[in-house]
Amino acid sequence: MSESFIRCESLVKIYKLSGVEVQALQGLDLSVGQGEMLGIVGASGSGKSTLMNILGGLDRPTAGNAHVGQYNLLKLSDRALTHYRRSMVGFVWQQAARNLVPYLTAVENVEMPMMLAGRRKTGERARQLLEMVGLADRRHHRLDQLSGGEQQRVAIAVALADEPELLLADEPTGELDNATAQTIFDVLRTINTSLGVTMLIVTHDPAIAQQVNRVVSVRDGKLAAETIRRAVETEDETGTHVSYQMLDSAGRMQIPKEYREHFQIKHRVILEPQEDGILIKPVSDESYEQRH
Ligand SMILES: Nc1ncnc2c1ncn2[C@@H]1O[C@H](COP(=O)(O)OP(=O)(O)OP(=O)(O)O)[C@@H](O)[C@H]1O
Ligand SMILES: [Mg+2]
Repeated sequence: MSESFIRCESLVKIYKLSGVEVQALQGLDLSVGQGEMLGIVGASGSGKSTLMNILGGLDRPTAGNAHVGQYNLLKLSDRALTHYRRSMVGFVWQQAARNLVPYLTAVENVEMPMMLAGRRKTGERARQLLEMVGLADRRHHRLDQLSGGEQQRVAIAVALADEPELLLADEPTGELDNATAQTIFDVLRTINTSLGVTMLIVTHDPAIAQQVNRVVSVRDGKLAAETIRRAVETEDETGTHVSYQMLDSAGRMQIPKEYREHFQIKHRVILEPQEDGILIKPVSDESYEQRH
């Protein structure tokens, strides 16, 4: 992997709601290479959007480290964080409409952020971006004359208007049917390849592994596992993907639920060093109590 563009170490985010603390991120470690397209999956409430909001400069971490490019997100002043967000990050949300103005045409929507940033000659770039997302022929349609998938493609063009280095997409296909979702993934991949923008895509779609080279899964505010597409399939190793469990910086690891259930692992295991690894042996509560 190329040198890390995003580096999070022991990232913690605590929300306080009427005196109750919620630990949305509990020491998350993550590295993302420049130009990588990363999928992020995880159950509802696991901390995916919290991570996106922090990396997008919309929210502040509580503790740990978070670097994007040369920016240290924990050290930035409010002004610098706003500058970071505007110059470095593009957002795509689940509801396309969140980024768009309904009574403007597609091309006007894409020109808007560029005009607000004081750019001139916005028309040509807007046209190019709409072509890139496959909407060249629809560019003079008003937003409300476009389908959900087309609106989401406009939203992607809008997010790219100010040439961000990082594109954050939080469930961009969440409200679309499978075929339309596939089109959105295709568009994102094309943009990733042609513009080299680093992309993080949060999704509930388990098929994401087919769309990107690496998928990480977030569980309880930490990275639990990672699936990587094999560059080359070897003869003795079939299957196109390989999965890893992640250790946090303190060496903690999660045993996947299906293994815990199958081997009836509840509270304790015994680690037995072997020649080429460590064997994790289940210890039932009954046998533990009999013994002690
Ligand atoms: N602004 C907030 N104030 C208080 N608690 C919050 C806030 N935002 C998120 N949380 C809490 O933090 C935890 C993580 O939330 P987050 O939105 O990051 O989850 P998620 O993985 O994006 O879930 P989903 O898949 O449902 O979108 C949840 O317990 C949530 O209730
Ligand atoms: Mg979310």
